[in-house]
Amino acid sequence: MTSTPVLQLDHVAVRYPSRGFRKPPTTVVEDVSFHVGPAETVALVGESGSGKTTIGKAVLGLAPVAAGRVLLDGRDITALTGRARRLLSSDIQAIFQNPYGSLNPALPVGRTLAEPLLSASTLSNTEVHDRIADLLRRVGLPEDAAGRYPAQFSGGQRQRIAIARAVARQPRIIVCDEPTSALDVTTQAAALDLLTELQQTLGCAYLFITHDLAVVKEFAARTLVLQQGHIVEEGPSAEVCDRPRHAYTRRLVAAAPVPDPVLQRERRQRRAAAEAEMEASGR
Ligand SMILES: Nc1ncnc2c1ncn2[C@@H]1O[C@H](COP(=O)(O)OP(=O)(O)OP(=O)(O)O)[C@@H](O)[C@H]1O
Ligand SMILES: [Mg+2]
Repeated sequence: MTSTPVLQLDHVAVRYPSRGFRKPPTTVVEDVSFHVGPAETVALVGESGSGKTTIGKAVLGLAPVAAGRVLLDGRDITALTGRARRLLSSDIQAIFQNPYGSLNPALPVGRTLAEPLLSASTLSNTEVHDRIADLLRRVGLPEDAAGRYPAQFSGGQRQRIAIARAVARQPRIIVCDEPTSALDVTTQAAALDLLTELQQTLGCAYLFITHDLAVVKEFAARTLVLQQGHIVEEGPSAEVCDRPRHAYTRRLVAAAPVPDPVLQRERRQRRAAAEAEMEASGR
């Protein structure tokens, strides 16, 4: 690798305190190492409960990192808290599955988008106004969207608002946690196209968390496969999806939905074979 990664995790472990007297903490993520390069998209896949969101939270400073390091542009940010951590919000942003939960329903969209811009503080009111118009245009929303409330938009449009907010301060990396999982297939494709376009124009990197293997090949250069808090496989997305080496990845790939009935039958057979293999290996 020639350039410093935007994001690097070195042997990261996340443990949550257990309930109950003298119970040892629960390890949710163990020995996780990977990097995301400038303007690169890396997908993190794995079944429900494997620890994908937890890794995203570790990057965002929202999970207890018990071991290892998280680096942003080569700088160790693992232990940053309070103001120092908040200052990172211009470099690390997030987009979540449910934009309705992450957008303030009481604020018009323009105010939601103004918040990150105003916290950068040096912009005049006119500049903020122009930036909001520019952001709305970039994400394909009409300029009058600024005066409307989140409830007045569709799910896909709300996700565009969340995307606009995330890119407002041109972050180095965005943690996208299932950003399109609540959208129908067409809206999902449009949202992914938008993320790709924004990456090309703004140069931000994505850590793209998903349980949907159908999208990673198109969208992410590399894919990491997480099983029970451990990375069990990683490589170029096409390789991981088409030639998975690990039995767990083969099962994930076989479980991904395909719209073609013949392919579906073949998939069912492969899934059964992968499950038998998993059982035989005791995992
Ligand atoms: N605050 C917490 N305290 C204790 N355990 C937690 C906490 N948050 C998550 N966990 C546990 O960590 C494990 C991983 O959860 P995580 O949300 O990271 O999974 P995920 O891969 O994102 O799953 P999904 O695909 O369903 O979103 C789960 O077993 C979960 O119960
Ligand atoms: Mg999750």
